Amino acid sequence: MFITARQLFLRIFLCFICITNTVTLAQPDFIFYFCANNDNYTINSTFERNLDTTFSTLPTTNSGLGFFNHSTLEGNDMVYSAAICRGDIEPDLCLSCLNDSMVKLRELCPNQKEAVGYYEMCWLKYSTKSVLGNIYHIDGYRVLVNTITSAQRDRFVEDLSSLMNKLKADAAAGDSLLKFAAGNTTGPDFVTIYGLVQCTPDLSKMQCIDCLENAYSYYATVFNQSGKIGGTVFQPMCRYSYGLSRFFNEGIPSPPVSSSSPSLPPVSSSPSLQGTKCNSVYLSLSIYTML
Ligand SMILES: *[C@@H]1O[C@H](CO)[C@@H](O)[C@H](O)[C@H]1NC(C)=O
Ligand SMILES: *[C@@H]1O[C@H](CO)[C@@H](O)[C@H](O)[C@H]1NC(C)=O
Ligand SMILES: *[C@@H]1O[C@H](CO)[C@@H](O)[C@H](O)[C@H]1NC(C)=O
Ligand SMILES: *[C@@H]1O[C@H](CO)[C@@H](O)[C@H](O)[C@H]1NC(C)=O
Ligand SMILES: *[C@@H]1O[C@H](CO)[C@@H](O)[C@H](O)[C@H]1NC(C)=O
Ligand SMILES: *[C@@H]1O[C@H](CO)[C@@H](O)[C@H](O)[C@H]1NC(C)=O
Repeated sequence: MFITARQLFLRIFLCFICITNTVTLAQPDFIFYFCANNDNYTINSTFERNLDTTFSTLPTTNSGLGFFNHSTLEGNDMVYSAAICRGDIEPDLCLSCLNDSMVKLRELCPNQKEAVGYYEMCWLKYSTKSVLGNIYHIDGYRVLVNTITSAQRDRFVEDLSSLMNKLKADAAAGDSLLKFAAGNTTGPDFVTIYGLVQCTPDLSKMQCIDCLENAYSYYATVFNQSGKIGGTVFQPMCRYSYGLSRFFNEGIPSPPVSSSSPSLPPVSSSPSLQGTKCNSVYLSLSIYTML
């Protein structure tokens, strides 16, 4: 395990992620965020300027399928940043999620040189160290689980494992633009189990597998939560989620058609998108976190 446990908190948490309106005055709260407190910057420092520059460019660096990365290497205060949207999220929602996360992370981590913030639809991280191609750099992850255990725990775990193993292999086999997989399987008593996994696409196939296995080990082994009917592990380089209702969209949106600029088209609120994005719900999740 590459992040050492220092503390363990357990709280009851109700989490409704329901984004129907892209016009909001304030940014929604993160599901979880983490500011590394061991290295701070000061107002008007090179680091702050580099962070400003990095964040102003980041939204224009969409690789095409919701992955963003930009670094500013001026002076000795390098800033690396990357952001990723869930693979099933439409480009306009993806961009507004990234916008929200940049504002929110600056607000919550006002002077920290490394931070990560997670929304349901996207996550953002920055650091003084490279944030690409390495699963070990950034701390800050969270495990959420549903409080209910399946009545047929062993069969549930078996069915869940085979689904998640398949999704893990599918996601890891993705290319340098997208490492994402979502699907379902039938569990005990004919329930449908839905799963979603995603790695940042800069990871190699092996790194993606390691990251997802690490996520699973937090959930199952570290917190001994096997058999719970829903759960999510957010890590800076990968995400692992499952539950008994479909919390993602079918299919993967096509990349924005744009030859001159990799940035996204302006937001035009499309009525057909409303509602379908409003189903990412984990009820009564306990939060297990180690900081
Ligand atoms: C960095 O700043 C945070 C709050 O802004 C503070 O809690 C922390 O102690 C600081 N770290 C150092 C090393 O000064
Ligand atoms: C930061 O720079 C601005 C403009 O140069 C200046 O007005 C402000 O007083 C500075 N703030 C600090 C805390 O140094
Ligand atoms: C993101 O922020 C930029 C700059 O603040 C703004 O121009 C753009 O419209 C925003 N995009 C979305 C989708 O909110
Ligand atoms: C399960 O996934 C398949 C594709 O693998 C899809 O056709 C089907 O609609 C899904 N079932 C449910 C209940 O969502
Ligand atoms: C990150 O950005 C750099 C510079 O724009 C680019 O060359 C590289 O391909 C990007 N990496 C990924 C994994 O998208
Ligand atoms: C893990 O949880 C199961 C079921 O709740 C329990 O039977 C088992 O003893 C637990 N194992 C550990 C190591 O706590």
